[in-house]
Amino acid sequence: MNVRTTIVVLLSAALALVFILPFVVPAGHTWTTAPVPATGDVVFLYWVMFVIGVAILAIVEGGIIASVILFRERPGHQAKVFHGNPTLEFAWTVIPAVIVIGLSIGSIRSLQVLTDTADAPMTIEVTGHQWFWQFRYPNDDLQVRDEVHIPTNTKVKFAITAADVIHSFWVPALSGKMDAVPGRKNEIWMIAPEPGTFQGQCAEFCGLHHGDMLLKVVAEPPDRVKAWIAKTKEDLARVTPEVGQQVSQQVCIQCHSFEASKPSPLQTAPNLAGYATKGPYNEPVKALKARDPEWLRKWVTNAPAVKPGTQMPKWEGVLTPTQIDAVVAYLLTLK
Ligand code: CUA
Repeated sequence: MNVRTTIVVLLSAALALVFILPFVVPAGHTWTTAPVPATGDVVFLYWVMFVIGVAILAIVEGGIIASVILFRERPGHQAKVFHGNPTLEFAWTVIPAVIVIGLSIGSIRSLQVLTDTADAPMTIEVTGHQWFWQFRYPNDDLQVRDEVHIPTNTKVKFAITAADVIHSFWVPALSGKMDAVPGRKNEIWMIAPEPGTFQGQCAEFCGLHHGDMLLKVVAEPPDRVKAWIAKTKEDLARVTPEVGQQVSQQVCIQCHSFEASKPSPLQTAPNLAGYATKGPYNEPVKALKARDPEWLRKWVTNAPAVKPGTQMPKWEGVLTPTQIDAVVAYLLTLK
């Protein structure tokens, strides 16, 4: 292949990718295919922007390519020298300005629709943590992580904040994107017309495990959501090593390894394999303390109060006292 063919092939491949990729993303990871109530406006706006963008690309690139071919240097051709063209300059100032203002108005309008949660009969509180999503059902006093169940055909308001850094809450198939900012409450809503499981992800780079900060929205009939809430509450109220293991596998595992052969995701977080017998400490006194359930409970509840400056966060307020007791019970079974 000569250089010219190579360039043409590479360029065509790049162009094809740009236009084909948006249509081959797995269902549920994109919102362009089946708009739901909250995304209808956004999808419409997306297509308006897409068409305008393609038209501008065609005009600008077409103009460049045509100029390169038509006005290339050839023997016998003299370049014409000229300065300024008021009509053209006016056109390429006013037309883009009109487009930008028009799209801004459309964007502001769709943002207003997305954040209009006044008439939502159900609220779920969302807190972004490094690196998991915490959901709270305020009326049922239930807290869960990473998987949230919502009733179908119901407008659900998500009140979104963050505990540490800025995250972004995004379930593409059900709603728009909303920043999770410490100290602020941002709101967004979603309605799932059909039952289903919808993937979501953190859409704001928030540290090492940003890419693992996934979530799942399960939409099901209202009575099944009620049953799920009741069952989950019951499960979480039990202090058993099994509940503790579940919590550990969702929360502690973000930083700690539970396998002797695997290093902890966070370098400074001790490997908790064999916690009850070997412990992560090499000093006998510390090991003794670490195996004392009372001390361990204090440590997991509020480590910074026990050891100022530690990277271990305070879990009080995130995990319930029962869940912390369950984690303690679980850690003490690790032999
Ligand atoms: Cu949280 Cu990215």
